[in-house]
Amino acid sequence: MISPGSIEQLLNAVVIEDVVGDYVNLKRSGSRFKGVCPFHDEKTPSFIVSPGMGIYKCFGCQKGGNAIQFLMDIDNMSYPEAARALAARYGIELIETGNRDDDEYKEKQKIRESLQVALDYAADFFEKQLHEAEEGKTKAMPYFKERGYTYETIRKWRLGYSPEAWEAFTQTASKEGYKPENLELAGLIKKRENGSYYDLYRNRVIFPLIGVSGKLLGFAGRKMSSTDPAPKYVNSPETELYKKSDFLYGIFQAKNAIKKHDKVYLTEGYTDVITLHQAGIENVVASSGTALTPNQIKLIRRFTPNVTVVYDGDTAGIKASLRGIDLLLSDDLNVRVVSLPDGEDPDSYCAKLGGEAFSDYLHLEEQNFIIFKAKLLLSECGDDPIKKSEAIRDILQSVACMNDALKRNAMNQELARVCQTDEALLAAELGKLLRSRNLKHEQDFIKEVKQVTTASGIELPREELTDVFQERALFRILLLHGDSPWDDHTTVSDFILKELKEDEQLLFNDEMCAQIVSQVKFGVWDKWPGQAYFTNHSSPEIASWAAGILSSGYELSKAFADNFIHVKKEEENYRNDITAVFLYLRKKKLDNMIKHYTKSLQDPETDVSDTLEMLNYLNELRSRVSKDIGGVVFTI
Ligand code: UTP
Ligand code: MN
Repeated sequence: MISPGSIEQLLNAVVIEDVVGDYVNLKRSGSRFKGVCPFHDEKTPSFIVSPGMGIYKCFGCQKGGNAIQFLMDIDNMSYPEAARALAARYGIELIETGNRDDDEYKEKQKIRESLQVALDYAADFFEKQLHEAEEGKTKAMPYFKERGYTYETIRKWRLGYSPEAWEAFTQTASKEGYKPENLELAGLIKKRENGSYYDLYRNRVIFPLIGVSGKLLGFAGRKMSSTDPAPKYVNSPETELYKKSDFLYGIFQAKNAIKKHDKVYLTEGYTDVITLHQAGIENVVASSGTALTPNQIKLIRRFTPNVTVVYDGDTAGIKASLRGIDLLLSDDLNVRVVSLPDGEDPDSYCAKLGGEAFSDYLHLEEQNFIIFKAKLLLSECGDDPIKKSEAIRDILQSVACMNDALKRNAMNQELARVCQTDEALLAAELGKLLRSRNLKHEQDFIKEVKQVTTASGIELPREELTDVFQERALFRILLLHGDSPWDDHTTVSDFILKELKEDEQLLFNDEMCAQIVSQVKFGVWDKWPGQAYFTNHSSPEIASWAAGILSSGYELSKAFADNFIHVKKEEENYRNDITAVFLYLRKKKLDNMIKHYTKSLQDPETDVSDTLEMLNYLNELRSRVSKDIGGVVFTI
């Protein structure tokens, strides 16, 4: 147990905006800070840090607490782990009583901690092998010197060396009392068929992989000789701690510089990052040679929306990674690119030019990603009109990934110039692409609204739940289109039943609707029984309810007008209707939440600024919902 007194002392010393600021790009807003919540997907910032109270709070997903809670949430730490991490950061000594390994440690955390210990030990081992052992000093140190790394650089990145022997690490670590099972789980050693173990990293220079909060997650070992037929790198396997798709090399060392410059340079290799850092360009990370993943993009977003991708100078590599960049665009990041001369990578070219000249080069050569892509693709089309139109469609796909309509339009104008094509033609083509994409976006927004309305925990008076009009409209769609496709994998009824099941707060007023929904929630049907089940039902009440709904005029498509999702095809209208109905049902919930918080302002116990902030956010969401459902308001 950590004594409550020292927890209090710790929390007094902690600067919460710094702790959170390591993970979230915070902007000052009055006496507090605001940012995009790291715990759930959102575009509208609803995450607040209050330095005065030493707490954070997300109005979207309702997560909140003090600095200890924050680390527990974001880094999956246990309470004592988080407290100790903060104590170390602020130089505070915690008074701990009793056994550190008491019950509060969950089994998983125990494993993680022992993996961490094993990794930290291994990093020390590899460093010692480089700096102290004869083999390392004569084989690996010259390799690093050859690459131009200074002593400070080698220490800063904790570079190391793994000896050539098969069991150098295995044996040393076992002598020190490390269990082979743990070393294996940490991805350091492997088991032979006969049950003995051998080192994963042999005869390689070692690059420790350090996560965003400074914790060691794994290693990469690079071979030193280009004639060695072995693979260039041996990388840490996926472990409890290391997830390749969440990892960006250098993020811990780069994050302050990224925030300061409000920009990150994205490269491919470990060595690119190290060389640029040494040259004074510190806002740089590497994706470890693979296409970017959504989690890596999320990680970048925490610190800046401005990404400049630095490409190696070969066209094949560039073309391969074009598609991945669309992901960055669709996350509202501003993407620029710099391409390097043929045969150069950031590491080699920076070493050649020196830091200052390379930095100038980056600034001068940096260009908008889409324009870059357009020039690249068009340059390969020659005079072939078919190829050219294919290229343009490909480019427009990227434009369609951008969410900001103003930016899209500006881009279109510029593209018309670059492609020497009529702007109106481009706009029309883009419009087509957007229509098919909007459906998905709408779904993302609906998810955000759903999250907020379901997380609130505010009970609503029954009569204020929903309008029966909307409820019946939903069931009309179910009866008419239940078996139609919703997306590639699910039918309309699958989708609606799932929504009804998941959202506790979607309660219905219409008696029959309510009855069916509660049956759905209780899992009476896994599958929608179909229209005939209701219209031919032996209970006249049910049959006539179904007939009434089917013959009624509760048609929403027209009311929700063209400006909603823009799908013109008649047979696709049911998708609009469903989206609109769910938004409408949840808008009712938003209305009520707004009422609830407004009323609570009269309560002297209420934290006024928190509540106002919450109301702000809810109003923002509600106005977007209203806009999406075309401002149509149904009353009965
Ligand atoms: P590179 O081949 O460009 O390697 O691969 P590098 O790190 O820049 O090394 P140098 O400068 O040639 O010595 C880029 C990245 O791709 C991953 C690594 O993350 C590497 O940094 N990679 C490459 C592997 O994981 N395994 C490999 O075998 C090769
Ligand atoms: Mn490289």
